[in-house]
Amino acid sequence: MAKHYSIAIDGPAGAGKSTIAKALAKELGFHYVDTGAIYRTLGYFFNLIGIPPKDIDGITKYIDECVIEIEWDEDGAQHMFLNEIDVSEDIRTPEISKIASAVSAHKLVRDTLLDMQRDVARKHNVIMDGRDIGSVVLPKADVKFFLTASPEVRAQRRFDELKAKGSKDSYEKVLKEVNDRDHADMTRAVAPLKQTKSHILVDSSAMTVEEVIAHMGAIVREKCRL
Ligand code: DC
Repeated sequence: MAKHYSIAIDGPAGAGKSTIAKALAKELGFHYVDTGAIYRTLGYFFNLIGIPPKDIDGITKYIDECVIEIEWDEDGAQHMFLNEIDVSEDIRTPEISKIASAVSAHKLVRDTLLDMQRDVARKHNVIMDGRDIGSVVLPKADVKFFLTASPEVRAQRRFDELKAKGSKDSYEKVLKEVNDRDHADMTRAVAPLKQTKSHILVDSSAMTVEEVIAHMGAIVREKCRL
């Protein structure tokens, strides 16, 4: 089988991973894989059927009834299907962010979703973003980035994004959510968010989106000889 390239982008919520990964994927002709969306879809499912995210017995009992599929449209946009229904928009709420983070702490959940993520990387050149891509999902990725920014900068970006969608949440509330989610994602026992030695650190606090894309794109081209 021809070699497929894989680029991992890990980092905390609101670091700009999806914006950067999407743009790089377009430039390079790779598949963009947003793994957070997979956890969100699972969280959305359990929320829908009334299983609290900490209820591991309920999750164990019903996880097989959650059939998740990923599809990409001609523009490269990723769509998430839950039991054949497109839930791509429904999973983008602050409530589902929190639920996805809690659900993702269970080993059973992570093990269940691992194959799905690796399978995509076996079939395509991918830019995959998440929390544990370089450390667990694709430890042999050709390039691994740890993309971050200060909590205040990330909260401001999230706040602007939510406001544009009509949300009335205050900046302080969004900052607290960012800090709480960082804490949960970094301190969980299984596959926590962490920068490994093989990750290249990119702090985007004082960079524009274009600067980050140019910087990371140049590294990918050099390392993959593209
Ligand atoms: O990237 P995101 O905000 O859409 O991710 C939602 C949650 O899913 C995040 O708080 C933690 C979890 N997640 C994870 O544990 N591992 C990943 N590879 C991606 C997301």
